[in-house]
Parts: sequence; structure tokens; C-alpha cells
Amino acid sequence: MRRPTSCSSSLLFILVLLFLSESWGQRLNTDNKKPSCDHCNQQLFCNCSHNGFTSVPSVTGSALSLDLSFNKITAVTNDDLTGHTQLKVLDLHGNGLAEIHPSAFDSLWSLEQLDLSYNQLTMLNYKWFSKLEALQQLNLLNNPYSYLGSPPVFGALVRLRKLALGGPSLNELRRGDLSGVTQLEELTVHANNLTSYDAGTLAHIWPLGHVTLSLHGPFLTNVTLAGAMIDDVSYPETPIILKDIHLIGVQSVQPFSKAAKRRIRYLTLHNVSVSDEAIVDLLVVLDGVPLTKLTIEDVTLTGEGWWEKASKTDHKSIDEFHIRNVVILDVYKFTSLLQLGFLLEYPRRVSVINAKVFVMPCLTSHLLKNLQYLDLSDNLLTDLTLVETLCGTTQTLMDIRVLNFSGNALKSLSTVSRLVTKFSKLTHLDISRTGYSFMPSSCPWPSTLRFLNISGAKFTAITPCLPKTLEVLDLSNNNLKDFTLLLPVLRELYLSGNKFLRLPSGLSFPNLQTLTIQSNTLNMFGKTDLQSYQRLENLQAGQNKFVCSCDFVSFVQLELRGGGGIELTDGVDSYICDSPFYLQGQPVDQVRLSVVMCHQVLFVSVSCGLALFVAILLSVVLWRIHAFWYLKMIWAWLKTKRNSRQRQQRRDKADTEALISFDAFVSYSERDAGWVENFLVPELEEPSESSSGTRSASHQPLTLCLHKRDFLPGQWIVDNIMNAIERSRRTVFILSENFVQSDWCRYELDFSHFWLFEGHATGEAAILILLEPLSKDDVPKRFYKLRKLMSSTTYLEWPQEDEKREEFWRSLRNALRGNDN
Ligand SMILES: *[C@@H]1O[C@H](CO)[C@@H](O)[C@H](O)[C@H]1NC(C)=O
Ligand SMILES: *[C@@H]1O[C@H](CO)[C@@H](O)[C@H](O)[C@H]1NC(C)=O
Ligand SMILES: *[C@@H]1O[C@H](CO)[C@@H](O)[C@H](O)[C@H]1NC(C)=O
Ligand SMILES: *[C@@H]1O[C@H](CO)[C@@H](O)[C@H](O)[C@H]1NC(C)=O
Ligand SMILES: *[C@@H]1O[C@H](CO)[C@@H](O)[C@H](O)[C@H]1NC(C)=O
Ligand SMILES: *[C@@H]1O[C@H](CO)[C@@H](O)[C@H](O)[C@H]1NC(C)=O
Repeated sequence: MRRPTSCSSSLLFILVLLFLSESWGQRLNTDNKKPSCDHCNQQLFCNCSHNGFTSVPSVTGSALSLDLSFNKITAVTNDDLTGHTQLKVLDLHGNGLAEIHPSAFDSLWSLEQLDLSYNQLTMLNYKWFSKLEALQQLNLLNNPYSYLGSPPVFGALVRLRKLALGGPSLNELRRGDLSGVTQLEELTVHANNLTSYDAGTLAHIWPLGHVTLSLHGPFLTNVTLAGAMIDDVSYPETPIILKDIHLIGVQSVQPFSKAAKRRIRYLTLHNVSVSDEAIVDLLVVLDGVPLTKLTIEDVTLTGEGWWEKASKTDHKSIDEFHIRNVVILDVYKFTSLLQLGFLLEYPRRVSVINAKVFVMPCLTSHLLKNLQYLDLSDNLLTDLTLVETLCGTTQTLMDIRVLNFSGNALKSLSTVSRLVTKFSKLTHLDISRTGYSFMPSSCPWPSTLRFLNISGAKFTAITPCLPKTLEVLDLSNNNLKDFTLLLPVLRELYLSGNKFLRLPSGLSFPNLQTLTIQSNTLNMFGKTDLQSYQRLENLQAGQNKFVCSCDFVSFVQLELRGGGGIELTDGVDSYICDSPFYLQGQPVDQVRLSVVMCHQVLFVSVSCGLALFVAILLSVVLWRIHAFWYLKMIWAWLKTKRNSRQRQQRRDKADTEALISFDAFVSYSERDAGWVENFLVPELEEPSESSSGTRSASHQPLTLCLHKRDFLPGQWIVDNIMNAIERSRRTVFILSENFVQSDWCRYELDFSHFWLFEGHATGEAAILILLEPLSKDDVPKRFYKLRKLMSSTTYLEWPQEDEKREEFWRSLRNALRGNDN
């Protein structure tokens, strides 16, 4: 007994061992296995961003673009990216990446864009880039490397066009660090903590597109260094953006003198704080420089606007001032720039955006002699201060072409319309995001006005106030429900974010080419809606509550495929079904509707027609086979059967013979009543001596039951018949054409038949009398019982000749009495 047990237990042990080693192996495998990312779209763009990967996941080898940004990848190993020879874009932004194997990118021959910004790379290795000959864009911003290293990191990148480097840790740039970089469209250097710079490091890059330098530290601590850097990148055609700088102290604008000498034309200061002295110094430094555009964004003005010390400087060349996001520390002391005639006289374009401007005094406006473009959007202008800013009706700013008052607290459309009427060159007026809610019935406008933007106001209806000369009209984000106004030259109309239920009629816009009507309450639109537009090429109608009817779905699918004349330029994804419920959320493009749905009217009418046809056919058939009659019969039969059962019980108690009160029940048609009354009744009930000569037993009067005479009034006829038959010894059927036509005769026949075959009497209970020659075939088929009776029972024929009638009566009497003998 023990041996097999120990044997099987050792077998089990081995099995367990095997199983353990198996699962051990599997665990090793899963440990080795790379995570994978399959968020790739049809364009082979793989978005593996924000997925918590701790190492580079495996992705299809044919991927063209791989976004691994915002994961937790700390290292890229030798074989993480092998085989990705097609990859064009690799984004590793924001990963905490500290280590990259020297040949990690070796197989990325096609790579054009590489983003390694915001990681933890403390060193850069030229070997990473040595095979990336196709690379055009490289971003190395904000890694903790403090120098670029040698040999020159970018030496192999012959195609490089956009380069971003530096970060808070970068403190030195050596000559030769950027050797190999020849021409760039964009250069960005974050050098806020740079302490050491070899002059000429950036000088050999030419042509040079946009340059962005963050030079916080250098401007504060070593203006020589800042000047040297600016000097190296300053060319007349190169726009320069200087970021994160404080221009406060006396020497702070010194680095600009280098740029001034190199006659730069486009200067942008971004994220700066400036004192009055610095501005004066800057104006002095830039004296006579052919600067055409000065842009200042995110600026903090620490002064009070006392800049007139620079009034002797020459700034004739300045064409555009663009100032955005201004914080004026001491806004109440800030003067009105009145002393700036020397500055304001020349520019044609001035933008002061989001600068808490509540008024531009008329005197200042007066100084802007050449102004053609004025953008005062996102300020604090009101209707009242707008009158002051535009100097009422006096002839100021007469060259103006574009006015932008977007995002101001304006309320009266008639005021602005009245004010701008004098500008005989005005073509563009942007009064979007204002408080306008009422549109007067008519408004004056300059006849040159082509572009009007009143989006983001509160209009509920439009009126002929809108000028007929408009070519572009933006009324998005209002509360409009319809649009009926003839605008003969309008080319573009923007109506998104309103409450339109249907497309406006195209007859009002004979020249319209572009219509945008997204995010309204359109349920659908179709060919007929668009037919009224004669020139429409470009329609954006997505993000509406579409009812995905068949017409709409097929129309949109056709248009999206470019089958119609009009292009739906807002793309497939904007057209989503809202109803019917089972299609909610589905892109219209992917909806497949069944034939039943799509030809519903046809379907319903065909099926109704079919049902009607079948019903008619059925009724005809039923009528032809007399189904109704049969039904009636069955019902009557059932009812009778019940009644008869009750009578049976009654009869069982009494004697059968006692119940019989008639010799015969006569069943006849009403039309044969004449014969019955004139011949039958007299002959049988009151037999005369004369007719027979001798009075014999056979001439005893017989009692007949006639429905006319003996039926109980008020009782159901069938019951009456039933009763009569039961209480009669015989039933006499007077057969004629008339009989066959008459309905209740049929009942009688049936009940007598029923009676006969229920076994209450013999076949002789029924006697047939043919009043006229009637063959079995004359009787309709459904009276098959009558036909059966006619074939099984001998019948008496009523002779036409008088001589034969005696014989007939005798036979009848015999038949009526026959059984009793
Ligand atoms: C990629 O996916 C993330 C979330 O997984 C998303 O936030 C991001 O917008 C996507 N990027 C693109 C370009 O679709
Ligand atoms: C870089 O400069 C910032 C100020 O702009 C300073 O707070 C920071 O400590 C500096 N970082 C390094 C690494 O020197
Ligand atoms: C300023 O920078 C230049 C160039 O790197 C350097 O030669 C000079 O010593 C620096 N000056 C100071 C005061 O740090
Ligand atoms: C603006 O510059 C300051 C230094 O002057 C810097 O600390 C800050 O981060 C900068 N802001 C932005 C948005 O770059
Ligand atoms: C007016 O300013 C707003 C906001 O700055 C801008 O979106 C709009 O394009 C400008 N309009 C014109 C006509 O330049
Ligand atoms: C009208 O103004 C809004 C808000 O300033 C802006 O977004 C829109 O692009 C403008 N419309 C046109 C046609 O420029």
C-alpha cells in the first residue's frame, strides 16, 4: 500500500517543481518585457504622452511620430529605439531623463525633430547626435548641464534649422561650442545664469532667423557679456527677442548699443521691467537706428511716463509700436505721453493691448499723424472715453484704416458708428467682445468699411444697421436666431456660437464664399439649404446638435468626401450625431443607416399597402369560402349546444313523448309562405273530405309548427327553431330557390341536421319537399348538409299538374306518420 503512495507523491513533487520553474521563467520574461504603447493613429502618430512609462515603451516600428512627453522615463538605453528608421519626430519633453546611451539614437536616420527639454541631463554627448543627419529641430532647454562640452555637440547636424539650448544651470558658452551650426531659422538660448561667454560664439551662424535670448543674469551682473551675445546675433533682418530682463539701472541698456550699431530693425522685449530712466536711455541708444518695429510684451513700467528727455532723438524709422500686457506700477501718476510727439509722429501702426488704457486723450491722438492701424483691444475704454479718444467729429486720425476696440466696455453701437463715419479710409473695424446688445434700425458708416467684427457681443437680432459694403462679417457668439438682410458683397460670414436652428437663406449673400456656423442649434442641413448659396466654397458647421437622419448623413458623408461642391473645412470630427439616441456621440462620418430607416415613408407605405392587400385578399378569400357564415354558424352552434344540453336535462326528467307537441316543423322561406299557407297548411291541418273522397286514418289532421304562427315572440330565433325542431316529430323542408337564399332556413337545416346526427332521431326526421325542380348541384356547396340530405333522403317533388297532387299529399302524409306505424 505504501509504495504507490510514495511514488505518486514524488511524481507530484516533480510536477510542482516543473510548474514552479515554469512560472519562474515566465516571471523573468515579464520582468524583461518592455511596456508597450499602442496609441498610434492612422498617420502613425503615436501619442504615448502622460502614460507613466518608466522606460521607453515598445511602439510599432513604422511609427512616424512618437510622443513620450510627460512620462517618468529616466534612461534611454542602447536598444530602446532600434529599428525606428522611419521615425521623424521624437518627443521626450518633461521626463526626468538623466541618462542616454551614446548610441541610443543611432538608428534614427530619418529623425527631423528631437525634443529633450525639461529633463535631468547634466551632460550633453556629441555621440547622441552623430548619426542624426536629417535632424532639423533640436530642443535641449532646461536641463541641468552647465556647459555644452566638447567635441562640439552639434557638429554632425548639417540640416539643423531650429535650435534651443540652455537653462538655469548654463553658465558658460565657449567659442566652438556651436561649430557645425551654420544657418538657423530659430535660435533660442536660455542664458539667465550665464557668467562666461566667449565673444563670437554665436557669430558664425548666418543667415539667422528669429533669435530669443533670455539674459536675466547678464543684464544685471555683466552687461559686457550681454552686449557680446547680442552683438553676435544682431543683423538687420533678424528679429531679436530679449527675455526676462530688468532695465532699471543707469548702465542697464548698455548692451543695446551693440544692436544699435548693427542696425537691427526688429526688437522685442519680453517679460521685462523698465524704469523711466531706462526708457529714456533706450531711446537715446536707439537714436537714428532704422528700427521699424518695437514690440514690448509682459512689461512692468516702474516709472511715471517722464520720457521727454529723449525728445531730441530721432525715431523716424519706427513704423510700429506693439505693446501688450502692460502693468504700470503707479498708474495714477502716469502721465499722458503728451511729450512724446517726437515718438508718435511717425508710426503707422500702434497697438496697446491689455494695458488698462481707459482713455487716449484727443491731444495724444492728434499727435499720431501717420496712424493707419490702432489696436486698443482689451482695455478699459467706454463710450464716453471713446468719443475723447477719437476726438469726436473733428478731423483727427484721418488716415486710419484699421480700428480695434475689441474687449472694451463699449455699450452703444450707434456711438461707435457715428464716431467712425468720418474716417473715409476705414476698412476694418473690430468691436468684438464688447457690451453691445441693441442694434439701431440704421447707422451711418464710412463707405469704405469692408470688415466688421462684432463677435462676442449680446445681439439678439440684426437690423439694416449693418453696412451693405461689408465683405467680412463676424457675428459669432451672440444670441442670434436668424439672419435676413441682403449683403451683396459679403464673402465671409461667421455665425458660430449663436442660436440658429437652420442655415440662413443664401439668397441674402450672393457672393458668400465662407460660412462658419459651428456650435449653434442646427439639427441638420442639406442640399436644398445650400442650393441658395451661389458661391459658397467653404462651410464649417460642426459641433451642432445634429439629428442624424438619412438625408443629412448621406449629404454630410458626401461633402466630407469632397463629393459636393462645398468643402466642410472643419473636419470629420466636428460632425457628431446628437440624436436619435442610439447614434448619440457617433461621428456622422461613421454612421451606417439601414435601408428601412432611410426609406421610411416608402417602407411604411409599401408595408401598409401590402398589409391592406393581404387583408383584402384574405377577406375576399374568406368571403368566397363563406368563412363568416361558418363562424356565425359555429357560434350559433355552440350556443345552441349549450341550450340544448339544458333542454336535454329538462327532457330527461319529463317523458320525451310528452314534449312532442307538433307532428312537423315546417321550415320554409318567407317567399314560399304563399304555398305553405295556401296548400300545405289547409291540406295537412284541416283535410277536406272532398279532396280525397274517403276519410281515412291517414286523413287525421296533423299539427304543424310554423314559425310565423308558433314561435314565441322575443326569443332568440335559433332557440325558437331549436325548440320547434325538438318539439316536432319531423321537420319538413320546403326546398326552392328561395329557400336556398334565405339565411335562417339554413340554420333550421343545420339544427335539424345537428339534431339528426346527435342521435336523437333517425334519418327520417327530415322530409324534403322540392317546390320546383332543384338538382343537388343548384344548392351551393357550403350547404353540404342539405346536399347530403338531398342525396341520402328521398324527397317529394311538388307536381305542377293537378292530377298528381293527390299522390303527393298521400306520400307526404305517409312520410309524416310513417315512423309511428
Ligand atoms: C496625447 O494624449 C494626452 C493624454 O493621453 C493628451 O492630453 C494630449 O492632448 C494628446 N496629444 C495630442 C497631440 O493629441
Ligand atoms: C539661476 O538664476 C536664478 C535667478 O534667475 C537663480 O534663482 C538660480 O539659483 C540660478 N540657478 C543656478 C543653477 O545657478
Ligand atoms: C563679464 O563677462 C566677460 C565675458 O565672459 C568676462 O570676461 C568678464 O570677466 C565678466 N565680468 C565680470 C565682472 O564678471
Ligand atoms: C520673467 O522674468 C523673471 C526674471 O526677471 C523670471 O523670474 C520669470 O520666471 C520670468 N517669467 C516668465 C513667464 O518667463
Ligand atoms: C483685434 O484684437 C483682438 C484681440 O487682441 C484680435 O483677436 C483681433 O484679431 C484684432 N482684430 C484685428 C482686425 O486685427
Ligand atoms: C473677431 O474677433 C474675435 C475676438 O476678438 C476673434 O477671435 C476673431 O478671430 C475675429 N474674427 C475675424 C474674422 O477675424
